[in-house]
This record gives sequence, C-alpha cells and structure tokens, in this order.
Amino acid sequence: MRLDKFLSSQNICSRKEAVKLAKSGVITINGKPAAKCDIKIDPERDIIEVGGETVSYRKNLYIMMNKPKGVLSASTDRNAPTVIDLLPDELRRRGLFPAGRLDKDTTGLLIITDDGEFAHKMLAPKSGVFKLYRAKLDLPLTDEGKNTLEHGITLSDGTKFRPAVISFEDENDRSDVLIRITEGKFHEVKRMFAFVGRDVLELHRKRIGALELDKELAFGESKLISEKEIKSIFCGQYS
Ligand code: URA
Repeated sequence: MRLDKFLSSQNICSRKEAVKLAKSGVITINGKPAAKCDIKIDPERDIIEVGGETVSYRKNLYIMMNKPKGVLSASTDRNAPTVIDLLPDELRRRGLFPAGRLDKDTTGLLIITDDGEFAHKMLAPKSGVFKLYRAKLDLPLTDEGKNTLEHGITLSDGTKFRPAVISFEDENDRSDVLIRITEGKFHEVKRMFAFVGRDVLELHRKRIGALELDKELAFGESKLISEKEIKSIFCGQYS
C-alpha cells in the first residue's frame, strides 16, 4: 500500500497532508525518514512513525455512535441527513456504513464500520446476538402482554418474532420497558408492542451483545472502538 494511502486509511491525515508531512521529515519507515509518499509499504510488517509516534495498523474501522433522532441509518440519502454525515472528519473513511438499522426516530447504539464480514455476522439471525432496547410506551405493559411477547408471536401477516426478554427499569412504571431481542426485523420492537396494544413513544438501543453504549457519548457523537470491544458483541449473554 502507498504510504499516503496508508496514513489516510488510518485517519492520521489526508493524502495531501501526508505529502507535506513527508517533506517536513516527520514520517519514518522502520526508523528511516520517508521523504516521499508514493513509497510502497507493508502495513502488517513495516513500522511507520509520525512525529515519533507509531501508527498502529487497523485494517477495519469500528465506530460507536449514539444515534440521535431525525437521522437515517444509511450511507447516503438525498433528502435527509444520515449517520455517516454526522461523523467528524477524523473518522471519515471511504466504505463506511451502518451495521444494521435503527429507525429514523430511534436513538442509541449504532455501529458504523467498513467491515462487511463483521456486519454480516453480527446481523445474521443465527448469531443470536442480543440487542437491548429501552422503550417508553403509551400505556403500562400488563403481565399478559409481557408473557405474550416472552413466548414469541406470529403477526396476522405470518411474520414470526422470537421470544423477547422483558424487564422494567422500575416496577412502578411499567410503561418504561427494557426489551431484549435477537433478531433485527423491520420495526421489530414497535410491531411487537403493537401486537399487545401498545404504542412505542420513544425507543433507545442501549446494548448489542456485551457492548454497551458509552454513557459519555452525547446524541450524534461517535468514537472509535477497538477490535476487542467489537468482539464483545459476540461474547455470551449479559445480566
Ligand atoms: N425495532 C424497531 O421497531 N425500531 C428500531 O429502530 C429498532 C428495533
């Protein structure tokens, strides 16, 4: 890979800036100054330093976003802002897309990546990855409604939803519900609650597998996460 391409792919700088940095002598390859950016490097073997700091190689990017309302979980759209539009310049990279969808009015944990294989694995129903949502309902959920959703349902159009796990933030307010599901069907949570006669007024995703939304991230903010964190998505269950 060319040095300038490598540096921009690792979000160190743009390809143009890489040329300037190389000229100024702050980039080294295996300890030797690199004056030009068209040099080919092996990202897996060569040690690249910028200003004395080693650039650790990330083949793929994994970004955690706290999705706000009013933004589409898509890469591009002509009419509405997308989650990709919200990324700060330093996290932008070609090929990024949201791994899975949250509705326009849903908030919370969204993973943005350029790793198609990972996204496929995370979204495949057979992976059984839990997604935990907090739903604010128009009316309290009855025991009967809870029980129905915990046994799995079939809608009148034949769509089946697997059993969910339901709990409450506070037993005294049963319109504030925590629901765990393992599928990602279109409008799944809203359609599940509609089945038991409840409207979802607000929906927020808190967790995917063992990966929890960072409470420090405000709506619309995002941050890079490590491969270790991303793997925690597939790590067992959680309390
Ligand atoms: N279920 C829904 O109904 N909407 C979402 O955005 C996610 C899950």
